[in-house]
Amino acid sequence: MSDFLNVIDNRNSVRSYSDRPLPEDVCRTLVEAGLKAPTAANRQEIHFTVVGKDNPVQAEIQNDLNPNAQNSFFYNAPVTIYLSGDENFKWSPVDAGIAVENIHLAAQALGLGSVILGCMEAVLNGEKKAEYSKKLAFPEGYGYQVAIAVGYPEATKEPHTFDFEKNVSVV
Ligand SMILES: Cc1cc2nc3c(=O)[nH]c(=O)nc-3n(C[C@H](O)[C@H](O)[C@H](O)COP(=O)(O)O)c2cc1C
Repeated sequence: MSDFLNVIDNRNSVRSYSDRPLPEDVCRTLVEAGLKAPTAANRQEIHFTVVGKDNPVQAEIQNDLNPNAQNSFFYNAPVTIYLSGDENFKWSPVDAGIAVENIHLAAQALGLGSVILGCMEAVLNGEKKAEYSKKLAFPEGYGYQVAIAVGYPEATKEPHTFDFEKNVSVV
C-alpha cells in the first residue's frame, strides 16, 4: 500500500499530548499543507492563525466554553491552528474543511497527532465574535470556520471502524 494510503488508514484524532513543543519549521510545514489545499475557484481565501498553548486567548476560550470544565478543550496540545474564512463566500466552510484535513493528514505523516476542533464555534462566533476575531487576527469580514490542535501524541487509539453498506450507495 502506498505511504499516503497508510497515513489515511492510521489517522485518528489525538486527545492526549506530551509537553514537547512543536518546532517552528514543523508548524510551517503544517500550515503550508493547509495552504496547498484546493479552494473553490482557487480563491485561496482561508486564513490560518497559529496560537501557542500559553497564549492567554486559549485560556479565555476555554473559560468561555465552560469555566468548570475539568479537561482542556485543546487537550493541552502545544499549538492550535484556527482557520477563518470569508463570510461572504459560500464555499469558505468547504474550503476550510479541506484545508484542515490536509493539516490533519500532514500531521499524521510527520508522526504528530492532531484533532480537528469545531467546539469553539459558539464562542468564537458568539457575542464576543469581534473581540476574538481581533485577538486571533482574522481578516476583516472573516469568521471562524474550524480549528485543529497539534502536537506530539502521548496516546493514540485505533482508527475508527465504518459500515460500508450503510454509508455507500452505488447507483
Ligand atoms: C468538523 C469536525 C469537528 C470536530 N470537533 C471536535 C471537537 O470539538 N472536539 C473533539 O474532541 N473532537 C472533534 N472532532 C473530532 C471527531 O470527534 C473525530 O473525528 C471522530 O470522533 C472520529 O474519530 P477519529 O477522527 O479518531 O476517526 C471534530 C471532527 C470534525 C470533522
